[in-house]
Amino acid sequence: MGFERWFNRTLNQLWGFVEDRTGMPKWALRPQPAFTFKPSYWTGAFVATAFLYQVVSGLLLLLYYQPSVNPTYLACGQAAGTLSASPAAWCSTSYIINSVPMGSLLHSSHLYGAYAMIFLAIVHFFRGYYLGVYKAPREFSWMVGTLLLLATLGMGFTGYLLPYTQISLNATNVGLVLALRLPYAGPLLGPLILSDGTGQGLLSRMFAAHILLIPLALGALLYAHIALFESHGIAPPATSDPLQRRRYTHEEDKKHVPFMPHIFLYMTKWALLYIGVLLGIAALWPWQLPTYAGNLGAAATVTEPDWYFLWEFKLVDFQGVTPVLAVGISTVIILYILFLPFLDRSPRTHPRDRPVFVFIGNSLIAFFLTMTVWGGLTPGIQILPLQVAEILGPPIAVNALVVALFYRRYRARYRARLAAVGATDRLPGIYPVSAPARPAPSAARAEVSAHE
Ligand code: HEM
Repeated sequence: MGFERWFNRTLNQLWGFVEDRTGMPKWALRPQPAFTFKPSYWTGAFVATAFLYQVVSGLLLLLYYQPSVNPTYLACGQAAGTLSASPAAWCSTSYIINSVPMGSLLHSSHLYGAYAMIFLAIVHFFRGYYLGVYKAPREFSWMVGTLLLLATLGMGFTGYLLPYTQISLNATNVGLVLALRLPYAGPLLGPLILSDGTGQGLLSRMFAAHILLIPLALGALLYAHIALFESHGIAPPATSDPLQRRRYTHEEDKKHVPFMPHIFLYMTKWALLYIGVLLGIAALWPWQLPTYAGNLGAAATVTEPDWYFLWEFKLVDFQGVTPVLAVGISTVIILYILFLPFLDRSPRTHPRDRPVFVFIGNSLIAFFLTMTVWGGLTPGIQILPLQVAEILGPPIAVNALVVALFYRRYRARYRARLAAVGATDRLPGIYPVSAPARPAPSAARAEVSAHE
């Protein structure tokens, strides 16, 4: 006990000294409510951790990687000094995996880290979707987040080509056929991506986008995303109360925790766990490099993208779905996500108050999951319209039924509770059915600052 008191006092003194000399309380991130000490409130921080790991591991890979399609003298499975038939991009990747100390761990963890970042960004997105965090005043946070998701997918797309394997070249070509069909943007993107039309031109552009252009865009967007998060504070728990989405309750507001060192250490704990699990998986299941592009023995290689684009590839397999239509469908989904804050105008954030958007969210999950599994099982096999209806119809119909039943039950119970207390009273958990007028921005600002 004596030691614990001494330890805490010493830590406080040391931390007080650091804060005083750095002025940290002025520039560190804002304090957060105590109830946010749960991983579910920091899904975005997990994505940011994954991004940081990608930057560090990517910089280390750059020490050895050569973005060239020319044959190389680099030791590449053959005796050193032998001219290899394989392109330098593939050969240098093989060299990293087979000859650089810990190179296989570094390479596999960069690849699996990319998968993890995309997966975590999807989790972060759907958490926000169901809990309505996109509602006022966080509309711009949501829109910047959508751009971050697209940029993250762009990192995956451009990185896939870099080892220059036959499978990655095939899939990149299919992806480009789709990207270049984008209305208006396609013809502009064509010369930018394809360069002079040679393999080297394409690899150089993908390399530049992967190591510089998209990371810079991601960094700038992340800065804006976190600045917006700082200005609004973390979204309070989802609620049926139209007013609660902007601010915390009085009790919650009293229990805020400073960012430094408490939240920082909390995040660091999760970040270290993330890196540990990632390295463990990479060490246990090292990635095997497929054969190089141009290998005559690999002419029959199946064209398959990484798992996060399988759904799009399957879409093109549907009979009657041309590349233009596939790009059109994807654009509609992206626009829906981007402008969601302006489509869902209800002031309540709880999923039980938003049956239509819950239904659309469930349908999107069912669509992406089914298409991904389907794409992985039957890549490149044409699908007839009847098969599409048989596979995609049932999950969407069941979803509609379940949401409709739950919503009816919720409405009935809600009305019963309102009737029991007298409809106009505001008791904990019971709120008037019609939303009060939204406060003017200045009033909302005054309201928020009163709580800060
Ligand atoms: C590279 C991808 C992304 C990164 C690194 C990122 C990072 C973050 C971070 C660090 C936060 C602070 C709170 C938290 O940790 O959850 C946050 C909050 C937020 N993010 Fe993201 N994000 C990304 C993608 C997205 C996407 C795809 C969306 C939605 C389309 C989105 C929407 C939001 C919103 C609305 C908030 C405020 C949530 C709240 O206050 O609880 N973000 N993000």
